[in-house]
Amino acid sequence: MRLVVRIGGSVVASPVNTELMSKYADLIKTVKAQGHDVAVVLGGGALAREFIGIAKNLGLDMTAQDEIAISCSRLFAQLFLKKLGEVGCSKVAITLDDAAQCLAEGKVVVMGGLKPGITTDAVAALVAERVNADLLLKGSDQEGVYNKDPRSNPDAVKLDNLPFEGFSKIFEGSVHKAGIHQIIDPEAIKVLKRHRVKLVVVNGFKPENILAAIEGKNVGTTIS
Ligand code: UTP
Repeated sequence: MRLVVRIGGSVVASPVNTELMSKYADLIKTVKAQGHDVAVVLGGGALAREFIGIAKNLGLDMTAQDEIAISCSRLFAQLFLKKLGEVGCSKVAITLDDAAQCLAEGKVVVMGGLKPGITTDAVAALVAERVNADLLLKGSDQEGVYNKDPRSNPDAVKLDNLPFEGFSKIFEGSVHKAGIHQIIDPEAIKVLKRHRVKLVVVNGFKPENILAAIEGKNVGTTIS
């Protein structure tokens, strides 16, 4: 299969968890050795949010704030790529063309942000679209997608399966802001829906969930 794995900055980078990053590197090597094509997209986490705050305090506009956050995510991508070693591409992919070319060379793509105005979830969806991925996996800081925000609603219920259409209803009216945190960016869903790319959102603090989802086991929330 052709897979895009999106590792939330809220999972490996808030605070930075090198043990978990190492586990993810091992996991990606395993998945690659199983014969899958893999692209990994990392976010900037708390570091990106801190830098967005600094940019804001300097009076910089949203585009500049986003650009700074993208640089932070690319730093994590660089660390992850180095940790992956020779199965990874020679450089962090900074365009969709880079990503496609790296996959064509049989290497694991690693990237952070792409352009201002979107999130790393949307980047993962755009990569999935570009390389015709079969599946997008997101390691998030929650067990999956809930019918309402579980952080402010204790009675929220986790959904095992969700059609693309149902997702759009839950997240209606959401707009981009630098550093916004959502379980999955609705903009990413729009891209995936267009191309019918399946998405599984799992608890990223347990990387083995990603493996389980690839094997088709019932874990997290499947959006299709
Ligand atoms: P994310 O919110 O996507 O990263 O990007 P994250 O840390 O992995 O987030 P979680 O774990 O899903 O919450 C952080 C910020 O970087 C900018 C946006 O401001 C975004 O909110 N960004 C990221 C871009 O502007 N463009 C990109 O392509 C990626």
